[in-house]
Amino acid sequence: MIHAVSFQHGRLGYLDQRFLPLKENYIDTKDYLTAVDAIKTLAVRGAPLIGIVAGYAVSLAASGYKGKKKNFKPFFTKAVAEIEASRPTAVNLFFATARMKKVFRKHFAAMDLPQLAEALRTEALVIHTEEVLRCEHLAAGGLKLFERTFKTILKTRKLRILTHCNTGTLATGGLGTALGVIRAAWQRGLIEKVIASETRPLLQGLRLTAWELEHDNIPFEVIADGASGLLMQRGEIDGVITGADRIATNGDSANKIGTFNHAMAAFAHRKPFFIAAPVSTIDRAIHSGTQIPIETRGGDELKVIFGRRVAPERIPVSNFAFDVTPAKFITGIITDTGTFKKPYKF
Ligand code: MRU
Repeated sequence: MIHAVSFQHGRLGYLDQRFLPLKENYIDTKDYLTAVDAIKTLAVRGAPLIGIVAGYAVSLAASGYKGKKKNFKPFFTKAVAEIEASRPTAVNLFFATARMKKVFRKHFAAMDLPQLAEALRTEALVIHTEEVLRCEHLAAGGLKLFERTFKTILKTRKLRILTHCNTGTLATGGLGTALGVIRAAWQRGLIEKVIASETRPLLQGLRLTAWELEHDNIPFEVIADGASGLLMQRGEIDGVITGADRIATNGDSANKIGTFNHAMAAFAHRKPFFIAAPVSTIDRAIHSGTQIPIETRGGDELKVIFGRRVAPERIPVSNFAFDVTPAKFITGIITDTGTFKKPYKF
């Protein structure tokens, strides 16, 4: 059993994903700034997990506060702002902090600080529990969709499905989103093989998805990100399923850089391309993918691999962490409350 995150006796525990699969380092902290740093450095990552950890970070900030009640509000506001500044694209983070702020607003006047900290801790635990349950509903819906979509192929053989980045337990704390659907389809006997793209530059596919698939004994192979077109051309991929970090109300979906390229390859070869994400990834405040903030990260993530410099510092690079796949290239969006098809209206 993989434990991506836990919260016990007022302490946040998480698996530091930066060193997987070579090292399994579990970190345990009471300090909200350590949680902020974990999100920033991708020690914890994946949209739903970022939301879960953000909720716990707010809770840790409140329980760690030692000052007077009259000074709590500015402290809380600053702490939440620090948490919200950790990563920009995954909307789950802001969904979680909005819920924590609502609890603060509701109870601040009437409760003393220990009571308020307790109310915030409860809300963080509820966010975590809900995300885990969302994965289960999503996987059940995704399985039905797979059975319908691939009905003809499934009459003669099992499926070869491409996925990108990591969308499993490490990204959600639960079964996973895209990987949750794959897990359900594997258990139903529908999967011949998962094709996981390595996901440059931080290798979430090669390091994390491969680790989870191996753990579950699901047959897989890892390919370079650029190989999906070739494999589709050869008929070796039947369809694609990925997660998302933020979905606009028109269905445009941001996900790990490289997702759009897979969607284009799928479109060119008439293969279905699915997004799987909980409703906490839908941003109802934005109507188009052009409004989604795309995180750019330090160039050394490209030029230094596992501590080893592979290109001189002077080489100019751009390190975009996400891209947006326009809704028109998405065959269906699988959520925990149902599957949506074009034209998307959330
Ligand atoms: O930069 P990361 O590793 O946080 O990016 C993660 C992804 O892009 C995932 O595909 C996405 O969050 C969906 S996770 C269920």
